Amino acid sequence: MDREPTTLPSIADVRNVAGKYVLVRASLNVPVKDGVVQNIFRLKRLLPTIEYLRAHGARTILIGHIGRKPEESLAPVYRALAQMTDLTWCPELLGETAQRMRHELSDGEVLMLENVRSHPGEEANDPTFAAALASSIDIYVNDAFDAAHRTQASLVGIPAHVPSYFGINFVREYEALVGAQYPQSPSLFILGGAKFETKLPLVAAYLERYDHVFVGGALAHDIWKAQGYEVGTSLTSDIDLSGHPLVEDARLLLPTDVVVVGTDGAERTITPDEVLPTDRILDAGPATIGMLATHAHNARTILWNGPLGNYEFGHVAGTEGCAEMVAASDAFSIVGGGDTIASIESLCLSDRFGFLSTAGGAMLSFLEHGTLPAIDAIIQKG
Ligand code: 3PG
Repeated sequence: MDREPTTLPSIADVRNVAGKYVLVRASLNVPVKDGVVQNIFRLKRLLPTIEYLRAHGARTILIGHIGRKPEESLAPVYRALAQMTDLTWCPELLGETAQRMRHELSDGEVLMLENVRSHPGEEANDPTFAAALASSIDIYVNDAFDAAHRTQASLVGIPAHVPSYFGINFVREYEALVGAQYPQSPSLFILGGAKFETKLPLVAAYLERYDHVFVGGALAHDIWKAQGYEVGTSLTSDIDLSGHPLVEDARLLLPTDVVVVGTDGAERTITPDEVLPTDRILDAGPATIGMLATHAHNARTILWNGPLGNYEFGHVAGTEGCAEMVAASDAFSIVGGGDTIASIESLCLSDRFGFLSTAGGAMLSFLEHGTLPAIDAIIQKG
């Protein structure tokens, strides 16, 4: 099979940025509760691009999105980032104050603007809005790998107007995920989470690329359902996998035990064929982690995205057991997804992984397609 190019044009290869207005599409979509950022993983990974531009005298303008509602503000994200690097905040995106503050930047200074999704042109991928963002800009840098699967103005519309490059983290993400498409054998892909309807092509393709694909989380419920097992009131997808070849594929691994809750509210750990019509599957059990460990022990490549249980609602044991198991393996591991990374960080295991991606959906989309709309917007232009 043809290999993707192994690198992208990086801003770190552009020397002459002094005095230039550089617009950075940054990865600022982080969890916020009561006005306080809960996790700075994505922000830490943005620092190399910011510091490179500052050190080389650029006038940097950061833009990005937060959440899905136009009224959500990046102000809490600014406060968190300001504890890590020197920058100023503008509570506007395109208004007069924003124009003035952009213009007044000195060499080496950094300005952060309000949520790009506060303007309807962002999600509509409106070319006029993209042109307005690009006005008076000399260079555009995309360092938002997490959002690169979105066809939105700040991600795909700006490169038509100005010379464009990728940020330092974006290039690292790309290189790691190109590598993940060509694993060293023995290889193991662990895929958790929900929504099989969006993940079916990925599972089918990676059964051909990896020696084993483990499907956990709610995705496993769809397979059991197709195999004729009872899944009770567990979460399932809008897809019927009955008769699909992957359901019987010998390379496909499934949880060997599950934690369920019955009508009495008590939790039990049982085998998947013991689930009752009144049970709800919450998590993978310890035997599943033991089974995965036998594969991880010899593996040279492990790719992992998505929790093994209902992580968001506190059923974290399966995902944390998986994190410890992958961390203990000598394999090169590439991991992504918000809950997955949160479990690794909560256990202070980050240094034991080969590469931690800042992306969730974008990682899966890249693995499936080998590219993303925001990559094509810059590459195809060049
Ligand atoms: C993410 O967190 O997955 C990205 O920032 C994309 O966000 P979105 O799903 O709201 O487009």
